[in-house]
Amino acid sequence: MEKCAQNLIYCNTIADLHSHLPDNCKVITLIDPVVEDLYSQYLPHPRIIVDASEKNKSIARTEELALELLNMGADRETFLLGVGGGIITDLTGFLASVYMRGVRFGFIPTTLLSQVDASIGGKNGVNLKGYKNILGVFRKPEFVLICKDFLKSLPEKEFKNGLSELLKTFIICDRDSFFSVVDVVERYGYDTGMLSPLVDKAANIKFSITEKDPCDRGERELLNLGHTFGHALEKISGIPHGEAVSIGIVTALSFSEKLGLISDEDADIIRKGMEICHLSTVSPVPLSSLKEAVVHDKKKSGSTIRLILPTGIGKAVVHPIEVEILEKYIYDLS
Ligand SMILES: NC(=O)c1ccc[n+]([C@@H]2O[C@H](COP(=O)([O-])OP(=O)(O)OC[C@H]3O[C@@H](n4cnc5c(N)ncnc54)[C@H](O)[C@@H]3O)[C@@H](O)[C@H]2O)c1
Repeated sequence: MEKCAQNLIYCNTIADLHSHLPDNCKVITLIDPVVEDLYSQYLPHPRIIVDASEKNKSIARTEELALELLNMGADRETFLLGVGGGIITDLTGFLASVYMRGVRFGFIPTTLLSQVDASIGGKNGVNLKGYKNILGVFRKPEFVLICKDFLKSLPEKEFKNGLSELLKTFIICDRDSFFSVVDVVERYGYDTGMLSPLVDKAANIKFSITEKDPCDRGERELLNLGHTFGHALEKISGIPHGEAVSIGIVTALSFSEKLGLISDEDADIIRKGMEICHLSTVSPVPLSSLKEAVVHDKKKSGSTIRLILPTGIGKAVVHPIEVEILEKYIYDLS
């Protein structure tokens, strides 16, 4: 077991999980049913099973869960443990932040996406009538316990979702790791063992960026690479988050090229790397159909949208752009 800074813990085997859990209070586990089915013997009781559906990331479900907690006798000393992918950790973090004005909580992320991204950084939230993550709080879990054993059972589709976020992290700030991921996938496919050190690296990067910028006011913005177009695509076409992000990264690359911020050669290397990793790079809908959703992105401030654009392999910038100009570029690139 290796402990990094305050609360990111890498646990080598699933059998070791219990040794990192709090033993001085009542722990209630909110768990994804698929994970409960596969790994029941390693995880603590009592449990509340919550399906990983975006519909469950809601105020209505939060209320139901709070009632369940009350019925189970949960008080201000209770510790909530979220075990599952990003849906379960987002919901657990939100519930723990509002139940009795806030109780202690921690996460065991079980998808690649949640291990390198969703569980780290203290953003907890629920959706509002189809608008994602509109209600939420910044509050850090006491720990994020990362165990790569969980990834062995992850369906390929879910693995790809996480791989988009993993590559995104390296595209913005770690050139060597970008090439390492592409090399591993090209030679060994989605081998969780071979990718393991790179998962740790991506989790560490997200952790240290969010430590420096806990409330998303500076460097953390770079982690939104691919998300302005990705969120719009997710909303319009209903494709999964990670797939939308990989297409969003490729769209951001096209903008970067158009603005002369990245060389065509670097942009091609990134695109090729994503293809080698079998990530989606082509939008199922025309770019022009995303215009409305993009200009209403929550990252908008006044008449400006802050696009995150790669400027090289391992480098990116925040590029504020007037909505009018963005609309024209969307039209040009469509
Ligand atoms: N808070 C943040 O900073 C942040 C960042 C990125 C994404 N998110 C949120 O994360 C959510 C997506 O998370 P996700 O991609 O982890 O998806 P998810 O929680 O929906 O899980 C995906 C699927 O994987 C299954 N699963 C989970 N662990 C498994 C395992 N070990 N083996 C087999 N199957 C397993 C689940 O049952 C589910 O069907 C979205 O709601 C998104 O908004 C939050």
